[in-house]
Amino acid sequence: MTRNVLAVFKDDAEVAVEAIDIAFDFLRQAIVERGRACVALAGGSTPERMHKLMASQAYKDSIDWPAVRFFMGDERFVPADDPRSNFGMIRRTIFETGANVSPDNLFPIATDTKTANDAALAYEETLHRELPGGRFDVIFLGLGEDGHTASLFPGFPSLDEADRWVVASPPGRLPPSVERVTLTYPVLNAARNVMFLTAGEKKKTALALARDPATDFHQIPAAGVQPTDGRLLWLVDRAAAGE
Ligand code: 6PG
Repeated sequence: MTRNVLAVFKDDAEVAVEAIDIAFDFLRQAIVERGRACVALAGGSTPERMHKLMASQAYKDSIDWPAVRFFMGDERFVPADDPRSNFGMIRRTIFETGANVSPDNLFPIATDTKTANDAALAYEETLHRELPGGRFDVIFLGLGEDGHTASLFPGFPSLDEADRWVVASPPGRLPPSVERVTLTYPVLNAARNVMFLTAGEKKKTALALARDPATDFHQIPAAGVQPTDGRLLWLVDRAAAGE
């Protein structure tokens, strides 16, 4: 399979369906090869649509759910029950709605620590312990209008992190204006498959820049996601693709 793909679909609903079909193939393959699959989930509106669908009856028996472990790509440093929490959204859309997922297979970023940096350090330990070989089978990512992805924001020091897998970040330019905890390039780029889900006309410029090899990732952080030995898939709707 080609390692860097842009696939354009009619709208965000179609993006969500295709994303699940493709991701589940990757996850099934991981389960066959390694006995389990590790996936990192994203916040944002396009991933949210996919999560809802993933938990629907249609997908109930389409994967060996107990073999799938769920992690987070980033989190807002807010209490777990805050409406802005990414994991809160994921819990409401996937785990409380019928998917057969055991709490043992959920690895949210705990935000009950004193500082966001403490939360980042604790999550890094979790990944070192629970993520075989430091490689996710699938990482879902969204794209911000300013080119950010996960909570890697333009011009921030987190973009030059070469060792840590998880860092704290000050708020970005786009809301919500809260501190973040985010995976960094070293672990994002070690993934077997990275899947960006992007929809809407307002993402058009950021998407074009993120896919342009001449773009500086300090300006458009999504451009720095280039798996070294994995696939990069952009699943976008026609509006984001500028069609
Ligand atoms: C977050 C996300 C963030 C998001 C993008 C795209 O915490 O908000 O993890 O990286 O995925 O901002 O979000 P939308 O799809 O809502 O535009």
